[in-house]
Amino acid sequence: MAGVSLRGITKRFGKVVAVDNLTLDIDDGEFVVLVGPSGCGKTTALRIVAGLEELTAGEVAIGDKIVNNVPPKDRDIAMVFQSYALYPHMNVRENMSFGLKVRMLKSFFWQLANRSKARDVRAEIERRVQETAELLGLEHLLERRPSELSGGQRQRVALGRAIVREPKVFLMDEPLSNLDAKLRVQTRAELIRLHRRLGITTIYVTHDQTEAMTMGDRIAVMKDGVLQQYDTPDAVYRHPANTFVASFIGMPPMNLLEVQTSNGFAKLGDNSIELPKQVQNGNVTVGIRPEALRPSEGDLRLSFQVDVVEPLGATKTVYLRIGDQQFVGTLDSDVATPEGEQIQLFVRKSDIHLFDSESGRSLRQGA
Ligand SMILES: Nc1ncnc2c1ncn2[C@@H]1O[C@H](COP(=O)(O)OP(=O)(O)OP(=O)(O)O)[C@@H](O)[C@H]1O
Ligand SMILES: [Mg+2]
Repeated sequence: MAGVSLRGITKRFGKVVAVDNLTLDIDDGEFVVLVGPSGCGKTTALRIVAGLEELTAGEVAIGDKIVNNVPPKDRDIAMVFQSYALYPHMNVRENMSFGLKVRMLKSFFWQLANRSKARDVRAEIERRVQETAELLGLEHLLERRPSELSGGQRQRVALGRAIVREPKVFLMDEPLSNLDAKLRVQTRAELIRLHRRLGITTIYVTHDQTEAMTMGDRIAVMKDGVLQQYDTPDAVYRHPANTFVASFIGMPPMNLLEVQTSNGFAKLGDNSIELPKQVQNGNVTVGIRPEALRPSEGDLRLSFQVDVVEPLGATKTVYLRIGDQQFVGTLDSDVATPEGEQIQLFVRKSDIHLFDSESGRSLRQGA
């Protein structure tokens, strides 16, 4: 096994900078999620690690070896794509063992000349396929063809094909996006369990912030080819580095309100929020997560007009207005929120985020 290091990698396609000076250290055995909106460079970054895309600048290391000039097949990685292509004329067993056979059995003539070795290799391949099938719950499907499988089962075969190779590193590019919502959640949990068991260093790409939050040991948030923040899901959620990360991570997104400041305080409704020492005036954006709203106690009291309420069972999403700005809240369903009326809600000081409105950067001390 091995960690992966991206050191200032840049990839240009003509005028487009797909990945811009990206530096990322992924520890041995870690599960890192690259997340960001469409077109931010996730797939390109992954393809660079795989060796499928040449670098414009920078270095990629797997373990302690720089692999810039190592061809994909010698990098000891396995990749699972969004559109996995299984061989339709082969059954599950054959689909899973085919790549290994090509790799390990070399040529027909080699097999003729090395019969006993070839027999050992075949037994080894059979062992790996069997083990992997058990791991993924595919044993009873080994003789079936892809057309006789459900979408989720096919997905697991594609995964199995990568696992049997026992690579040093897994690269996964939106592997769950073809599955329906329920199966996606289920497979997500299976993947996490699998990772705990195998402990193989994994880089996982998704544009889905929930997937990133639930799966990653650490998540790397990207925008326009540039890394915005790289930390644990909890740290990214609690201390977003800028307004982009603040609104990308968390559902519904964080409310961002531009506020007036004077003499070290920002005004929000009737409340004054103390600003950090380095900012006394200037344009400040206050961030409050929908789920930070509280029905009774809190340091700040805010007055809202209720526009629309969306019940979700245990909780509800409430579309509000504060002054002339829109605001979204998540509240327990038993909190009274009559549509069209004015209500008071509370926020704790520790749940308030402050950003520089111009740069978008967090004003947290030490951030
Ligand atoms: N072969 C290529 N030639 C030219 N431009 C490309 C090429 N591949 C990607 N790009 C551009 O590079 C940028 C990053 O693309 P990339 O596929 O890495 O994004 P992504 O984050 O994976 O997006 P998605 O979530 O939609 O898959 C985009 O602007 C894309 O148009
Ligand atoms: Mg992509």
